[in-house]
Amino acid sequence: MAVAQPTSPISVPDYVKNQRLRAWVEEMAALCQPDQVHWCDGSQEEYDRLCEEMVQSGTFIRLNPEKRPHSFLARSDPSDVARMEDRTFICSLRQQDAGPTNNWMDPAEMKATLNTLFDGCMRGRTMYVIPFSMGPLGSPIAHIGVELSDSPYVATNMRIMTRMGRAVLDILGENGFFVPCMHSVGVPLAPGQKDVAWPCNKETRYIVHFPEERSIWSYGSGYGGNALLGKKCFALRIASVLARDEGWLAEHMLILGVKSPTGEKTYVTAAFPSACGKTNFAMLIPPKALSDWTITTVGDDIAWIKPGPDGSLYAINPEKGMFGVAPGTSESSNPNAMATITENTIFTNVALTPDGDVWWEGMTKTPPPQLTDWLGQPWTPDSGRKAAHPNARFTAPIEQCPVLDPDWDNPRGVKVEAFMFGGRRSSVVPLVYQAFNWAYGVYSASTLGSETTAAAAGAVGEVRRDPMAMLPFCGYHMGDYFNHWFQFGRGLPNPPRIFFVNWFRKDDDGKFLWPGFGENMRILKWVVERAHGRAASIEGPLGWMPRYEDLDWKGMEGFDRDTFQDLMSVDRDDWLKEVLAHEELCIKLYDNLPKELLFIRQLLTSGLWRSAEHWELTSAG
Ligand code: OXD
Ligand code: MN
Repeated sequence: MAVAQPTSPISVPDYVKNQRLRAWVEEMAALCQPDQVHWCDGSQEEYDRLCEEMVQSGTFIRLNPEKRPHSFLARSDPSDVARMEDRTFICSLRQQDAGPTNNWMDPAEMKATLNTLFDGCMRGRTMYVIPFSMGPLGSPIAHIGVELSDSPYVATNMRIMTRMGRAVLDILGENGFFVPCMHSVGVPLAPGQKDVAWPCNKETRYIVHFPEERSIWSYGSGYGGNALLGKKCFALRIASVLARDEGWLAEHMLILGVKSPTGEKTYVTAAFPSACGKTNFAMLIPPKALSDWTITTVGDDIAWIKPGPDGSLYAINPEKGMFGVAPGTSESSNPNAMATITENTIFTNVALTPDGDVWWEGMTKTPPPQLTDWLGQPWTPDSGRKAAHPNARFTAPIEQCPVLDPDWDNPRGVKVEAFMFGGRRSSVVPLVYQAFNWAYGVYSASTLGSETTAAAAGAVGEVRRDPMAMLPFCGYHMGDYFNHWFQFGRGLPNPPRIFFVNWFRKDDDGKFLWPGFGENMRILKWVVERAHGRAASIEGPLGWMPRYEDLDWKGMEGFDRDTFQDLMSVDRDDWLKEVLAHEELCIKLYDNLPKELLFIRQLLTSGLWRSAEHWELTSAG
């Protein structure tokens, strides 16, 4: 049985020692007027009970226990299927501090709006008090949050995604710091009113951050990053502000471990914008010929990175679960992800098979003849519509990942020796290069671009600047964020080396030049060896680059040298246009832009003019 549950909305259990937390929950319960308040203890019993209640209420469908043990399917409201960047606000005291890439509203005005919206918003519902730690309990890199939500879907997902429950309150103690996270689906129930399977407010939605106050308020949506407030809202937007103020980094990066055949272990982080294969790279399986190299996963989405006493950088994955995009995930694209989601998984907006299992586009080559689609409608392959929503998700415990790194939960974090950045670019950007130094690295990362895919807003194939893959996730002015990166590097005696990759370059016929997936191990191997100062390279116009002979082609000896030249070429005209596109970003951010960026752009431009018009590895001799 779960711990005793208070029935009065404002009774706080005695074991809650933190005075600020007690007062805040009392105040918020009085504002939101839930029928009950439930303090989540994080136990398995509690999780099972909430899941069963959601099966009864129609929010969850229990999947076939033989096929997907302890797993559930939720179908959201069709209007509530993704993060909503246009409803996301950074309400800093000064608009200037949110910068031109964030929505801003005056915090007092926004508070007034939210107070009105939250007044009585939980009537007829239970308020769940969800204490959670982002990062291993008690780690010096971790931080605590408490989410108040009227959604049992959120409570169960938060138990998978974070270290959640009573143990967190013990760490918090009497005076510990926590980030208050308010969440409501925004649909109070009148007495006797029947609830719907996926309550959400179709008209009004706000995802709001108060950076000075370090608080989050989210109203109207029950989906993903809008509602699981530990993820993008806390671990990136609020944490990026904490990181700026305290001298660390909160980044949209996966973390992986690379073990060489001699047993040398190197940790690498990588930032890629959405739809660039981050989950696949985090769980990369080396090709057969390089199977004496082992890749292990620490995290697939977010990294918190702090300098340690030895001057090296240590990273933790603040999360404890994966909230991954299901469509496209298959035994061939990512068998490790498939193994991670075999049980104890919550699926949202995927299709249901007649025998009670799940399916999505790309899971198998041939779709099943019959399904129930994500809207609950009968579906056949000739229906002419998708069976799963393109942003359908799985929420799965990271501990189920078969290649989980042994140090994934180490409170000290893992030592980071290389940063990788990459986007989706069908032309212009080479397969791999290493920045000449930290400042060049910060320049290239801050001008990172990626082509939009069908899943993203905007015209398909258009290059969007997504600095450090943080555009939707930086909780303050992007120009100040670049400055923080420069400053951070200056304080490091031996900063990690910075690398850029592009798995997506195409030939004139639109065919990918590079096979990607497991073969990316060859690039990763070069990155790791460069990080240790070993692998050879030559100086190119953008940075250090491997020649053909500098990569390990074991098992792929036939790879065409000319194709490799094409993958690595740097065309001056293309790059001058690219530099002009960087300029656009700089103009947008000009008021807070670190001047170093402009000087590095000059150096980059002069490097382009000094090298061949169409620079190839061979032209460097
Ligand atoms: C995510 C994202 O869901 O980056 O991780 O959008
Ligand atoms: Mn992400």
